[in-house]
Amino acid sequence: MLATSDKTASIDPLALRKAFGTFVTGVTVLTTHDANGQPRGMTANSFTSVSLDPPLLLVCVGKSALSASVFASTDCFAVNFLHEEQTELSALFASKSPDKFSALSYDFVHTGAPVLNDCLTWFDCTVHERVDAGDHFILIGAVQAFGTSPAAPLGFCRGRYAMVKDPLPPEWLASHGMIVSYLIEADGSLLLCRDAKGAWVLPTAPRRIADGHLPVAGGGTLELLPDDTFLYSVFDVADGDPGYLIYRARLAQSAQDCQLPENFRFFPLDAVPFDEVPTRELRGMIRRYVSESARRRFGIYMGSHDGGRLAMVDGAEPWANTPHSSN
Ligand SMILES: Cc1cc2nc3c(=O)[nH]c(=O)nc-3n(C[C@H](O)[C@H](O)[C@H](O)COP(=O)(O)O)c2cc1C
Repeated sequence: MLATSDKTASIDPLALRKAFGTFVTGVTVLTTHDANGQPRGMTANSFTSVSLDPPLLLVCVGKSALSASVFASTDCFAVNFLHEEQTELSALFASKSPDKFSALSYDFVHTGAPVLNDCLTWFDCTVHERVDAGDHFILIGAVQAFGTSPAAPLGFCRGRYAMVKDPLPPEWLASHGMIVSYLIEADGSLLLCRDAKGAWVLPTAPRRIADGHLPVAGGGTLELLPDDTFLYSVFDVADGDPGYLIYRARLAQSAQDCQLPENFRFFPLDAVPFDEVPTRELRGMIRRYVSESARRRFGIYMGSHDGGRLAMVDGAEPWANTPHSSN
């Protein structure tokens, strides 16, 4: 029998690469920023989910990549899964192009890493650990925020892109689709809108913001302070209902200058009509926002079936268990 070292020496790296390549994966774009704040990114299919509690994932970064030194020193990164119409984007981020982001729309959600506005699923992470591993290093991320869409995933196998056939179970949209809402504050007031049943709810947006412009459902566009938007709360109301993804944002203009449909109104933070806000979860979340806004110190709530977790945005406090209603 061959000694281990002989075995290793006899392994042909090209044949090994081909063998690894028979494993079917998705395709991701890893993003971060360099020390000058410039966005950097590369295509990677070495993603693996690692842990739910704490929420961890990993990707492997080749040491020969131009962006390897940036991923080796950054304290945050995002993993953006690509959907089936993004093979060109994958090729761009697999290239050595010095400017991969110029034609791209992205936001800063939580950690400061760029999150692509158009992707299948994204995870915004702080770096949990880096592990040296041969010609790669393993980048382990602690998930701080994430979002997903019903688009079809882009697959990859044997060096070629692969389309995944009908990946969406019929009930997926109803139970896992996310309503994206915004807590928008201006001049000490909160923007609410009347829904079809006459209740006051948060404005929803058909997509996440690009460059501070937020097209709100129902008409009109709001100008937001671009660097002041962050994920505030993620929760389910009931099994079968869509979940809520709530961002907090501040207006770049004053409340009076907003051109908004009739069903929108700003309420002073101490005069929110809580008895006309429809669900316990929404009321609890707005109450938390009002009290945190007075202290200018915000937490992110992530609801789950076994309770919920609150993380302070400035990172000063660890995740802490909280009851369902305090989202
Ligand atoms: C589908 C696909 C998957 C890839 N997966 C990885 C990966 O997991 N890790 C890695 O380091 N490079 C991976 N690459 C190669 C990098 O994208 C490539 O080296 C790129 O040039 C890196 O960009 P940079 O040199 O500007 O940093 C992959 C490429 C493709 C097309």
